[in-house]
Amino acid sequence: MSENGQPMRIGILGAGMIAVVNYGVLPNLVHIRDKAEVTAIADPVFERAQEAQRQFNIPKAFASLEEMLEGAEMDAVVNLTPIPFHGPTSKKILQAGKHLATEKPLATTMEEANELIEIADSKGLTIVCSPPDMLYPHYQETQRLIAEGAIGKVAFAKVRSSHGGPASGAWPNDPTWFYQKGSGPLLDMGVYGIHEITGLLGPAKRVVAFSGITEPVRTVRGGPFKGKQIEVTANDNNLLMLDFGGSTFAVVDGTFNVNAAKSPKLEIFGREGTININDPFSGAPIVEIYRVDAVPGISGWITPVGGAFARQQERVGNLRRAILVDHLVDCVREGKRPVLSAEHARHALEIMLKVEESAASGCALDLTTTF
Ligand SMILES: NC(=O)c1ccc[n+]([C@@H]2O[C@H](COP(=O)([O-])OP(=O)(O)OC[C@H]3O[C@@H](n4cnc5c(N)ncnc54)[C@H](O)[C@@H]3O)[C@@H](O)[C@H]2O)c1
Repeated sequence: MSENGQPMRIGILGAGMIAVVNYGVLPNLVHIRDKAEVTAIADPVFERAQEAQRQFNIPKAFASLEEMLEGAEMDAVVNLTPIPFHGPTSKKILQAGKHLATEKPLATTMEEANELIEIADSKGLTIVCSPPDMLYPHYQETQRLIAEGAIGKVAFAKVRSSHGGPASGAWPNDPTWFYQKGSGPLLDMGVYGIHEITGLLGPAKRVVAFSGITEPVRTVRGGPFKGKQIEVTANDNNLLMLDFGGSTFAVVDGTFNVNAAKSPKLEIFGREGTININDPFSGAPIVEIYRVDAVPGISGWITPVGGAFARQQERVGNLRRAILVDHLVDCVREGKRPVLSAEHARHALEIMLKVEESAASGCALDLTTTF
């Protein structure tokens, strides 16, 4: 429910894959019908907006954001456009006085990110920015364990934040833009790992990176665009290191080069133990903790089981990407500062922009933002 006890009225901007796919936003809003109702959808490919309108029974469809802002009753807009459009479209959404839930990254320049935060602050609007990982119980539990000293002082972390790229599978829409300047795997995938590790350890102080293009042309392997040759203009191979101060470091990848992996998604090595976060579909427990002296005189692995943790995990699992809307409604209704805050997203963006700068100059760069 919104401030007035009615479901929050939501406009959807962009009727592409993350809007309609089974793990996306629209199919999973059924779980929070009492909290949010979609009143409109807009996409410049108007047939796509109309198709989603039919499929999800949405009252109005539009061919542009401007028309939707003009013609629909909305309290908030969910921005599901491709990465380069996030900054300019989110600015219009906030200027029109609507709360915002946006796909990652928040924007592609620091100027845009600062402006979005300023507009939201001045108008008393809430911004929720993907990725949602820090809302997941296993990340929140890991955050608590680290803060309570369960693995002692953290020395370093290894974060896997890549996949094989949208051209390596059977993407339903044209995946070309993911490989082009202004997008790329750092902004599309590395952003997850950067949010995760800064969410767990706090803001980073410095970044240093290597970054490059693995192959100048990628060929789409399957789906309706099978065989299409994509010219790669964004760096598709990024490895970065973060310095959190006090000799705590992390290494994060953000590439379209991990076709398969068996290692944990995240490994955090502390002086008193280790925490692994595993991929949900890996078959391994989602969190594992190794503790020196788990019981007196014996060190070993501990796997959390059952209880509230499992139930919460199920709720989050059901919401999938609609969790962004769920979080936005909760924050607006309860006047809460979002866990998925714009300030955190701006810090992640500064890291990503400085990855390219650091790779070009060969220097470690100081980070100035925090959250
Ligand atoms: N596809 C996924 O599995 C996935 C998963 C998580 C997050 N995301 C994120 O979701 C966002 C969209 O990705 P996608 O895969 O759905 O892309 P997509 O290309 O399938 O869809 C994007 C849609 O936005 C529309 N669009 C373009 N410019 C627009 C504008 N100015 N106003 C309104 N609509 C506009 C396009 O016509 C298209 O229908 C990206 O930020 C991406 O990082 C995607």
